[in-house]
Amino acid sequence: MQTFTYAERPDLALRTGEIEDTLAPFMGYGEVALRHWAKLRPELPELQLILYDDENDRVVGHGRTLPAREADGLPGGIDDMLETWFGDGPRPEADVLSAMVAVVDRGHNGRGLSRLLIEAMRDLAGREGFSSLIAPVRPTWKDRYPLIPIERYARWTREDGLPFDPWLRVHARLGGELLQVAPESMRIEGTREEWEGWTGMTFPDDGDYTLPGALVPVRFAGGRGVYVEPNVWFRHRVG
Ligand SMILES: CC(C)(COP(=O)(O)OP(=O)(O)OC[C@H]1O[C@@H](n2cnc3c(N)ncnc32)[C@H](O)[C@@H]1OP(=O)(O)O)[C@@H](O)C(=O)NCCC(=O)NCCS
Repeated sequence: MQTFTYAERPDLALRTGEIEDTLAPFMGYGEVALRHWAKLRPELPELQLILYDDENDRVVGHGRTLPAREADGLPGGIDDMLETWFGDGPRPEADVLSAMVAVVDRGHNGRGLSRLLIEAMRDLAGREGFSSLIAPVRPTWKDRYPLIPIERYARWTREDGLPFDPWLRVHARLGGELLQVAPESMRIEGTREEWEGWTGMTFPDDGDYTLPGALVPVRFAGGRGVYVEPNVWFRHRVG
């Protein structure tokens, strides 16, 4: 198993369509992400990663990163970092690399591969001259506990002291330090009809709805549904 940047192996970067992720479809409709996500590939290929199974010639994962600034406080999360970097305002002087997402193909989940992507991201941060990688982590089991506040969920631990959540656990095991929560990392908003199309559910009335793959409830008011995804900031120091 090997990792490459998109710049190093553009041939493999073209094959990310081979990766099947487990994210709920509605996660693809964040307004800020729709506007800017696709710029990561052409504008920063040296900061995007492929996980490649060389024995079987399969692209089995990808990792995305973006430079960010933390000197004035941690960014708000995914939307904030995308807008700050790609939006109309002046670009900040970056002092850290941030993970944006790590994905391992669903057929390869549970085999410890995600670690390789985080380690490769941390190496990238070092190569870019940053002293750490930060990551707004999306806890993979939070959708099972959508009514528990993220601040409390993030602190749940097992008997061995490691985080309860499997994905937070991977970060902790690799030496990551839990910093704080990002309560509004990503916003997804749509009409009732759009949400029904994204989820296959019906939303007959205004109110709060829990739904598969959503870390917190989606709130419907006046026929529009708003989902504001919380994440958990981790820091991985380089070297
Ligand atoms: C999060 C993700 C990258 C983890 O990748 P992975 O390679 O499957 O993770 P690992 O094999 O390293 O497993 C991590 C932990 O989750 C558990 N796990 C992951 N997938 C599992 C599965 N299908 N069945 C059982 N356990 C699983 C593992 O047991 C492990 O816990 P442990 O360390 O206590 O054993 C992957 O699930 C994914 O792509 N998810 C969708 C995208 C996403 O949410 N990315 C994160 C955004 S920041």
